[in-house]
Amino acid sequence: SLPKKISIIEVGPRDGLQNEKNFVPTETKLMFINKLTSAGIKEMELTSFVSPKWVPQMKDASEIVASHPNIFRNIVLAPNRKGIDRALELGCHSIAVFVGVSNSFNKKNINKSTMESLEELKPIIAELKKKDIFVRACISTAFYCPFDGKISESDTLHLCEEFVAAGVDELSVADTIGMATPSESFSLFSSLKERLPNVLLTAHFHDTRKMALANIFAALQAGIDRFDTSAGGLGGCPFAPGANGNVATEDVVYMLERMGIDTGINLDKLVEAIDTISPVLSRKINSGYYQLSKK
Ligand code: HMG
Ligand code: MG
Repeated sequence: SLPKKISIIEVGPRDGLQNEKNFVPTETKLMFINKLTSAGIKEMELTSFVSPKWVPQMKDASEIVASHPNIFRNIVLAPNRKGIDRALELGCHSIAVFVGVSNSFNKKNINKSTMESLEELKPIIAELKKKDIFVRACISTAFYCPFDGKISESDTLHLCEEFVAAGVDELSVADTIGMATPSESFSLFSSLKERLPNVLLTAHFHDTRKMALANIFAALQAGIDRFDTSAGGLGGCPFAPGANGNVATEDVVYMLERMGIDTGINLDKLVEAIDTISPVLSRKINSGYYQLSKK
């Protein structure tokens, strides 16, 4: 049976904006974050501590973190020692590391092989756990890679198991380029549920081919009750051609609430949050729920 309640992890301020060409003023980002909080978001990826040469949009990470909202879990991304040390200096309590199952993608994204990233991160994760930091691992290209094509389920399971053995609290398992089908979603998430019962499992779908809602429904059937979504369907990874927007928070909330599943999110307020950010973006908001709300 389906869950009665699910958790939304809002990734708009991070995944949603990182690929935006023009720099979004820090003030506008903070307004967006605050409006999302008013809409009922309790867990949010705020920003990432990455190289400003690689991802200029995230260069104001320190300022964003300094004004973090008062919610259950503020998450910041950091791929390496330098980023993690910066996050710790600033008092962050929840840190997300990220790595691709695909070696080719990991090289393009963080300039290391998957195994180099894993070996670098293992002792860091142990240190973070000693400091009682919540650690999330974002597992990219869990289904398909823009360079290597299909990724085998066993490779993804194996990497997920390595991160759980290293001590992470949560795995966010991603269809980076929006190519998974509902049967692949059901299969991978069922295996993860069975093999890794003691970790929070979250599904992260990009919506390149408009299959994200179907993939979410399949993941729900596999017992997943945590979803990464992005207000307005913004999103994309600059180093993954085809990583268009994430699944839109408002479309997911609409679908689940109509199915009687509690998300804790207010759709009118969510639309207000999108209204604060959309005027400064180079792209149009094309989620179904948002467009209808403007008619
Ligand atoms: P590199 O060039 O190999 O790094 O990049 P390096 O160690 O050789 O250092 C080069 C310079 O970067 C040095 O500065 C470092 O200090 C600096 P310089 O001496 O030249 O002035 N540096 C940093 N600065 C700030 N923060 C840091 C940091 N580390 C080094 N943490 C690096 C390696 C990892 C830095 C680079 O590849 C990078 O920043 N990559 C980030 C890519 C990224 O943000 N991708 C998007 C997020 S992942 C994603 O979107 C997928 C996800 O949504 C799930 C899914 O959908 O699949 C999570
Ligand atoms: Mg993503």
